[in-house]
Amino acid sequence: MPYRVGVFVGSLSKNSINRRLATALVRRSPDGLAMQEIPIRDLPLYNHDYDAEYPPVGVAFKAAVASVDALIFVTPEYNRSIPGALKNAIDWGSRPWGQNSFALKPSGVIGTSPGHIGTAVAQQHLRSVLSFVNSPELAQPEAYIQFHDGLITEDGEVTVESTAELLDKWLRLYEEFVCKVISVNPKPAP
Ligand code: FNR
Repeated sequence: MPYRVGVFVGSLSKNSINRRLATALVRRSPDGLAMQEIPIRDLPLYNHDYDAEYPPVGVAFKAAVASVDALIFVTPEYNRSIPGALKNAIDWGSRPWGQNSFALKPSGVIGTSPGHIGTAVAQQHLRSVLSFVNSPELAQPEAYIQFHDGLITEDGEVTVESTAELLDKWLRLYEEFVCKVISVNPKPAP
């Protein structure tokens, strides 16, 4: 059975280059990983008044995170950090207190921007948040993808061989990492 992987796309833009990157990862995913997006678009802005009674959209979001074995975060960089929409989704998943959906769920962080450092600062911020919610993260290889026109088509075809190789290597080592984390922290039997 492949590991089920929930993919977060940190951008809500119709023309998101990070969505293209996510599509490329899904297209290239190894047989051992079954990837599907966990949408974040419909989550309202979190505040802890919701903890008394999570609305259906929050319950569904937490159920989606619970249903996967591992996570991939494909993040843009906004003002040298992660977009508010992505932070909001993580806040929803981390609560109510004591019901953190991310605990011990292995994750990988990747992202693309036209800038020279290709989301490096946003990824570091995201790693800090993921550490706090107790999600073990793939540390290496890092994947800072500098986007240029045509690098990845809308349907996820990668047009530059070196970028395709980097993504394949990242996916292979991510799969190995997920396998190791799950073997140390197996899910309790239902
Ligand atoms: C950006 N962009 C950007 N790029 C970057 O490399 N570092 C940054 O700090 C920022 N900051 C930033 C802030 C805001 C509010 C916007 C809208 C954009 C440019 C950004 O990388 C570019 O718009 C990407 O296309 C965003 O990714 P998506 O949404 O297309 O996936």
